[in-house]
Amino acid sequence: MTLLDGKKTSEAIQQEIAAEVAEIKASGGKVPHLAAILVGNDGGSVTYVNNKVLACERIGFGSTLIRYEDTISEEELLIKIKELNLNDEIDGFIVQLPLPKHIDTEKVLEAVDPQKDVDGFHPINVGRMVAGLPAYLPATPAGILQLLERYQIETRGKHCVVIGRSNIVGSPMSILMSKCAYPGDATVTLCHRNTVDLPHYTRQADIIIAAVGKPGLITADMVKEGAVVIDVGTTRVPDATKKSGYKLKGDVDFDAVAPKCSFITPVPGGVGPLTIAMLMKNTLRAAKSEVYA
Ligand code: GUN
Repeated sequence: MTLLDGKKTSEAIQQEIAAEVAEIKASGGKVPHLAAILVGNDGGSVTYVNNKVLACERIGFGSTLIRYEDTISEEELLIKIKELNLNDEIDGFIVQLPLPKHIDTEKVLEAVDPQKDVDGFHPINVGRMVAGLPAYLPATPAGILQLLERYQIETRGKHCVVIGRSNIVGSPMSILMSKCAYPGDATVTLCHRNTVDLPHYTRQADIIIAAVGKPGLITADMVKEGAVVIDVGTTRVPDATKKSGYKLKGDVDFDAVAPKCSFITPVPGGVGPLTIAMLMKNTLRAAKSEVYA
């Protein structure tokens, strides 16, 4: 069994990006600049956004954090987005999700200029991804592709079972794994909360990608010997022994499942760290006008 080390892989990618930023700076080019809008004080979201800003600083990007109370109106948020769309200093920006209930998330995501949509959430980028055109890919699925590629995991002709159909992970992951490309070219089954007999599908899987947010959903009896298991779950569960008061639990019962696997991601330290690296990569591509050349 090989542990897929997301932390190490993320650091390697960020070092590659930092080296490129240093070159851009040396030649007097535009230093990539990422802006992030954070609405409210959700613990997870605050941590994620802070980590994104810290990553920018570490690799030499400019960054701007824009924070609002969760009482902000949709209109005010849309005005800020239009302003960022027009600001030439900002190469890319994200609106951290989830947003408060009184704000229409789809409307907000559609307001972002697709050329600055480094989260890849705008329907134009989603459509371009589906069509196989150059697009910003959402960070978590893109990070999983990086892990598969850097560990040279065979995906062609394999049966990949994706569990969870969110717009952020499950749905784009299933599309990318089905593409005629490497990593990809797999036979893909997309399972979700209304799948009848989930173990029937997971037991056939060469590659399982679980993105549900239900700790311990995937048990050892659901996994074929030699399978590759990618765990996207990061549920906070109370843990008095931790300074933060919680620990992160994946969707996979790691201790029982790991011995059966050829490759498996730990939680934390698996998929999570790659998400930030891929956001940085998208921001670099935005600064270089690579996607919409
Ligand atoms: N919430 C959970 N994942 C993400 C992400 O990748 N980007 C944004 N903006 N919000 C998220």
